[in-house]
Amino acid sequence: MRLFRCLAILQSALSAATTTAHDPRASAACNNSPDLCSRSYGEITHLGAHDSPFVRDESTGFSLAGNQFYNTTVQLSAGVRLVTAQVHRDGDELHLCHTSCSLLDAGTLGNWLSSIKMWLDENPNDVITILLVNSDNVSAQDLHAEFTRANIVAQAYSPESTTTTTAPRRQTWPTLQDLISNRTRLLVFVASLPDSNNARTSAEVAPYLMDEFTFIFENQYEVTSPMNFSCLPHRPSSVRDNTSAALARNLLPLVNHFLGKRAILDIIVPDVDRVAGTNSPVESRVGTLGNAAKMCSSEYAGRQPTFLLVDFFDRGPAIEVVDGINGVERAVGRKAVGNGTTRERKTSAAVSGEEKNPFRGVARVVRAGYGCFQAILRGMGW
Ligand SMILES: *[C@@H]1O[C@H](CO)[C@@H](O)[C@H](O)[C@H]1NC(C)=O
Ligand SMILES: *[C@@H]1O[C@H](CO)[C@@H](O)[C@H](O)[C@H]1NC(C)=O
Ligand SMILES: *[C@@H]1O[C@H](CO)[C@@H](O)[C@H](O)[C@H]1NC(C)=O
Ligand SMILES: *[C@@H]1O[C@H](CO)[C@@H](O)[C@H](O)[C@H]1NC(C)=O
Ligand SMILES: *[C@@H]1O[C@H](CO)[C@@H](O)[C@H](O)[C@H]1NC(C)=O
Ligand SMILES: *[C@@H]1O[C@H](CO)[C@@H](O)[C@H](O)[C@H]1NC(C)=O
Repeated sequence: MRLFRCLAILQSALSAATTTAHDPRASAACNNSPDLCSRSYGEITHLGAHDSPFVRDESTGFSLAGNQFYNTTVQLSAGVRLVTAQVHRDGDELHLCHTSCSLLDAGTLGNWLSSIKMWLDENPNDVITILLVNSDNVSAQDLHAEFTRANIVAQAYSPESTTTTTAPRRQTWPTLQDLISNRTRLLVFVASLPDSNNARTSAEVAPYLMDEFTFIFENQYEVTSPMNFSCLPHRPSSVRDNTSAALARNLLPLVNHFLGKRAILDIIVPDVDRVAGTNSPVESRVGTLGNAAKMCSSEYAGRQPTFLLVDFFDRGPAIEVVDGINGVERAVGRKAVGNGTTRERKTSAAVSGEEKNPFRGVARVVRAGYGCFQAILRGMGW
């Protein structure tokens, strides 16, 4: 028995060492996996951090309105590939505020974009998405000014046609590798851009600011009971409760999967107490992320949701559901955070530099072999 387990450990250490040492694909991963490079942006699932900059930590006095425990750059390094935020006017600046700038103000849009720009520069094989909720009807010009100031416009993808009102078929979205090769690794959606009366339409000013509901549909987002998650389209209203209409229009499914609870004054705040269940990969339990991913894929005629959007992304762990649905088995290059689970600890060990340093893998085999040898001796009573 011991010998058997020992050999299994040795074999897995050996295979990890040989694949990291000889598998050239390990250094050519797209969004943490070589298997995703040739897949279309619209046909994989991206893990989304809902209200990404609204963090519940020292910087906000652990605000109850915070939706995440870790900031945007930490989220991205851990595998999040969609970040959402609300844009508000605060005087003559654009700020990221939760509902109102007096409730939770995460600073300016420009600073946030700069931190994302820095992350993109440090991670040249990753494709990420920003979804901005345009709470105060800010014009494309004013948003564009912030993107310009953050020096991030050149990295933003512009769709082939911004004048049509129909989305591309999901398999005709570029592959991750296309986006990486073209150096347009940032996709930006806005809900919504004001109808412009000016001569210069939004698309002329900033073709990379894609109107969310031209390309994406979402399910209900105000859910306060784990029994009440639903895959039915809620927005845009033109396809409400009509899944076949949403799919026929090639809209990419965004599945909101976070739970709110009523707090003082009937304000809905993230239900942190139930997040372990909400983000859980367990498919068989109603209300989990695993259950939602499976149910929605089936309701969407076998197409996987393009985005799964969660609060407290590190819990669950949500990334496990995303890896499962993408068929990714050995993600590379992630930095896990916090307490995490066994899985997250395993991931963090895997990214400790073994991909870059095959000798660590070899050292592990030697260690495992030595451990085995000793265990066998002990088992034999020596
Ligand atoms: C995000 O959090 C990490 C870890 O706490 C910190 O090192 C980093 O500076 C933060 N990034 C930004 C942009 O605040
Ligand atoms: C890549 O860039 C070229 C040249 O600008 C363009 O023709 C092509 O459509 C782009 N491909 C993608 C996937 O964006
Ligand atoms: C949004 O702004 C546009 C001009 O940029 C204006 O025409 C429109 O009425 C505004 N809509 C709302 C709901 O305030
Ligand atoms: C769940 O949905 C049912 C049916 O729509 C509704 O009556 C109930 O109030 C909802 N529960 C919560 C907690 O929102
Ligand atoms: C849903 O949309 C389709 C068009 O895609 C339409 O044929 C059908 O009648 C709609 N169903 C309902 C219940 O509105
Ligand atoms: C980690 O988990 C322990 C026990 O559940 C808890 O006491 C501690 O505060 C956690 N630390 C962080 C950083 O979440």
